[in-house]
Amino acid sequence: MAYSVGEILLSREQIAQRVRELGDEVSAAYEGRNLVVVGILKGAVVFLSDLVRTLRPQVEASLDFMAVSSYGASTKTTGAVKILKDLDADIRGKHVLVVEDIVDTGLTLSYLLKILEEREPESLAACALLDKPERRQAPVAVRFCGFSIPDEFVVGYGLDCGGRWRHLPDIHKVEMTD
Ligand code: IMP
Ligand code: MG
Repeated sequence: MAYSVGEILLSREQIAQRVRELGDEVSAAYEGRNLVVVGILKGAVVFLSDLVRTLRPQVEASLDFMAVSSYGASTKTTGAVKILKDLDADIRGKHVLVVEDIVDTGLTLSYLLKILEEREPESLAACALLDKPERRQAPVAVRFCGFSIPDEFVVGYGLDCGGRWRHLPDIHKVEMTD
């Protein structure tokens, strides 16, 4: 099976406008607070770097990152993920916003939120650029969501297909060819 980049689902202009709106929502929610923005490597990097630059100065944001990988077939049911890189700093008593590229089955994010909740942050919420609600297996609260999209595999703006195409400025559908 070969893959190629297909038509644009979300253009860079649509993304930029929605990211500014999300920045306003996040700024309003955390104004006057210290906020730890936790990016999930690698997919969220492009989105996070645009999002944090839309936050108002009244939000005192710091950045931290986690890298996770699924445990293979078993994650399809449990959502257990292996932490490849943990946060640098303790989040106890902090306001924490987890930033993800996309919520698909919801297994990864719900597992991550469970792990982070055990560290007793003051508050914990999630922000995802994309959501595929039709695919949900684990209920997960995404407080800030960019776009709901249909059940299509997409790449670009940080999202990859086997490591490829994260650098594309727009979000494209992936086409499968034999
Ligand atoms: P979940 O645990 O099924 O919600 O998986 C979320 C992860 O799957 C995301 O962080 C992405 O790495 C990956 N993923 C799901 N759908 C897509 C897609 O359409 N394009 C690229 N990556 C995807
Ligand atoms: Mg990925």
